[in-house]
Amino acid sequence: MAEKFYITTPIFYPNAKLHMGHAYTVTICDIVARAQRLQGKEVYFLTGADENTGKILKVVEEQGQSVEEYLNQVTENFKDLYSKLNISYSQFIKTSDREKHWPGAQALWKKLVEAGDIYKASYTGLYCVGCETFYTEKDLVDGKCPVHLTVPEKIEEENYFFKLSKYTQTIKDRITSDELRIFPQTRKNEILALLDRGLEDISFSRPIKSVPHGIPVPGDESQVIYVWCDALVNYISALGYGRDDVLFQNFWPANVHVVGKDILRFHAAIWPAMLLSAGLPLPKNLLVHGLITSGGHKMSKSLGNVIDPYELIEEYGYEAVRHYLAREVSPFDDGDMTKERFKESYNANLANGIGNLTSRIMKMAQDNLEMPVQVTEEKDMSKYFALYDVYEISKAGDYVWNEVKALDQYIQENQPFKLIKTDKEAGQKMISDLVARLYAVAQMLNPIMPETSEKIKTLIKENKTPEVPLFVRKD
Ligand code: MSP
Repeated sequence: MAEKFYITTPIFYPNAKLHMGHAYTVTICDIVARAQRLQGKEVYFLTGADENTGKILKVVEEQGQSVEEYLNQVTENFKDLYSKLNISYSQFIKTSDREKHWPGAQALWKKLVEAGDIYKASYTGLYCVGCETFYTEKDLVDGKCPVHLTVPEKIEEENYFFKLSKYTQTIKDRITSDELRIFPQTRKNEILALLDRGLEDISFSRPIKSVPHGIPVPGDESQVIYVWCDALVNYISALGYGRDDVLFQNFWPANVHVVGKDILRFHAAIWPAMLLSAGLPLPKNLLVHGLITSGGHKMSKSLGNVIDPYELIEEYGYEAVRHYLAREVSPFDDGDMTKERFKESYNANLANGIGNLTSRIMKMAQDNLEMPVQVTEEKDMSKYFALYDVYEISKAGDYVWNEVKALDQYIQENQPFKLIKTDKEAGQKMISDLVARLYAVAQMLNPIMPETSEKIKTLIKENKTPEVPLFVRKD
């Protein structure tokens, strides 16, 4: 039976349009998912929307739509971007889905109660709805939320608390021993430092009036489950936890949750604590990526530096966007993106790189070989795939482009187009070898640029030069 591989994206808030940062998360997940499939694994790739948030209420009211209509429209927009980026997801989970998500969320809640980890308490705190998080005075900058720069709401209410503090040591042990492995090391250190300071219990429900479309707390209809508790459960509710758990049995624990550094604490502390409380295994890995900035600044509407994935897809094609995200942004650090750098990279690596190389080799092959080169699918690409096992996505991209460069250099140094005139047999052999190496490049390219990979393979199988260049230089 094929080895299983379960990978997830965070589920996205439906209050804003997806931008390049979101596109980054889903694209790297897709690249990892495809790399695992190529190695023969059975991959389950989950993504979705985090819908039970109070953030949308204002927008819904302004637009005069029902919550459901609004959410469905946003889902269509999300799915549209996914399809434009050729994202090979298995399921899109919506947390408003009463059939697929709610039973899991409520079942998990009951497990927390059974474990004695839920208690009622009065609470006074500062809540930022943008972050869906409580802050303390010392977290604020000039009295404002450090992320949204808005004054948080002062909340005084009675709600249910989760005994997060109880799990501090166990989580610390699991992370230290890499049973729950965190990539990169810097983020592992960051969370361990946080755990050293100790975790505090956390408010895990809100009054229903704050999020009327939220999931009711089992046994207390006046409260809804706190949106982060509800959202994190998507990783198991989507697999049928709490209803029909065949997929859950097959795929849990997740091989990797891919998340941005801004939501590390939720995934490396709160989620593991919930799973421990419910007696469930922890995910194996967390890949914590940085944020995409534009011109050195966080993308924001007011700075006017938001890069719209649609625009780039329109101008350069979606695979150019996948290429940039895979190669030019480190999966472990913040990465900058400007339209100028995008163009430079496109011209150097795609138009003048792989595109030009394919034309050169296939032109020689078409003109000088009587038959297509008999290529075989290379099975042993372990060195290449090993990079994906440790989420070195941009290094994997570099590995492919190093071979592109090596082939270019080989052609330049050995000039097969001249050799063929003086020694036909030796020239044909050299060209055939180049075609075989190009085929290996195409195979390796598959996770990053699946369509270009197929195009090159087809050209090789038909012994043809591309009718139009694969990538046209932009000036
Ligand atoms: N709904 C929560 C996640 C719940 S998961 C159980 C959430 N949603 S979000 O829409 O705000 O963000 C989703 C993901 O997009 C996060 O991983 C976040 O880090 C990522 N990004 C948002 N802006 C980003 C950049 N500028 N760059 C890279 N990723 C960014 O948080």
